[in-house]
Amino acid sequence: MKILIVGAGGRLGAALMREYHGEHDVAGFNHAQLDLSSFDKIREKLGGTDFDVLINAAAFTNVDLCEQQPDRAFRINAEAPRVLAEICGEKNAKLIHFSTDYVFDGEKRAPYTEEDEANPISVYGESKLAGEKNVLATGDRSASAKATADRHLVVRVSWVFGPDRSSFIDGMIKRAQESETVDAITDKFSTPTYTHDVAKMLSQFFDSDVEGGILHFANAGRCSWQEYAQWALDCCDKAGLSLKSKTVGACSLKDMANWIARRPVYSVLSTAKYTQLTGISPRTWREAVADYITRFYSKK
Ligand SMILES: NC(=O)c1ccc[n+]([C@@H]2O[C@H](COP(=O)([O-])OP(=O)(O)OC[C@H]3O[C@@H](n4cnc5c(N)ncnc54)[C@H](OP(=O)(O)O)[C@@H]3O)[C@@H](O)[C@H]2O)c1
Repeated sequence: MKILIVGAGGRLGAALMREYHGEHDVAGFNHAQLDLSSFDKIREKLGGTDFDVLINAAAFTNVDLCEQQPDRAFRINAEAPRVLAEICGEKNAKLIHFSTDYVFDGEKRAPYTEEDEANPISVYGESKLAGEKNVLATGDRSASAKATADRHLVVRVSWVFGPDRSSFIDGMIKRAQESETVDAITDKFSTPTYTHDVAKMLSQFFDSDVEGGILHFANAGRCSWQEYAQWALDCCDKAGLSLKSKTVGACSLKDMANWIARRPVYSVLSTAKYTQLTGISPRTWREAVADYITRFYSKK
């Protein structure tokens, strides 16, 4: 099976490239090789490439910048995925498109299921939701394109971390290595999700016979950013890393005066559908973080 990854230089895209190398016939385009804001270029590059599954891990992910540049956000996060879906339709290929917990407003206090209504509270969330709809729309397509579109998969993930690009957890570890005090938000909840685990789960959905639609994936459990950071430091301490600060202090969402976009307070994703489809329960976020730190920090 030929897998093509768009956004191959990002946190998730680079992890997928690495994890699938050797296991699948995998190729990728990073941002410099393919700019999703140029639809002609997308058609030109992908039209001339052979693939069975196209994975779109590219997105305009800077949540605050999206607020200031809505046209760019919608072009990359909503319109480009429509073009990708159309190309897949023409090639009878499957599109796997990543989306986000930020499509929800965060008002719920139990894990969000795929059936819960999305109600984004930021331009980023709105643009990503529009992208989901464009990927899954069957509208005025031909019968064969509709059949292909029914197989397209939108995978929503949350709080993604991994070795290929620094994220919240790496920032916290760095600060704890350099500073006597570290703090993190206590009143915002979701689930950290390891790119390695996303790669493992995703390959179960490459088969074109597997039904498409929306699917949530995250590691198991939930936490605040403060709990997440504290666990990361506990793991680093156990791994023998030298830390100037071993305790993460508390701060609150209202302290984030420099944030432009609103963020959902609670955005835990239910993975019940994933478990029902595969019979597999994701490992806990604590196990995933511990694994990441053992693999990528303990030898540093
Ligand atoms: N990170 C998270 O916590 C998180 C949470 C929920 C959902 N997600 C979703 O997961 C997916 C992957 O995100 P990620 O964490 O891997 O983010 P990332 O590291 O920011 O990766 C996104 C990639 O897209 C590229 N990109 C941006 N604009 C582009 C354009 N116009 N044309 C082509 N490529 C472009 C970026 O390149 P440059 O860096 O060169 O701009 C980057 O390589 C996205 O769909 C995101 O919405 C992420």
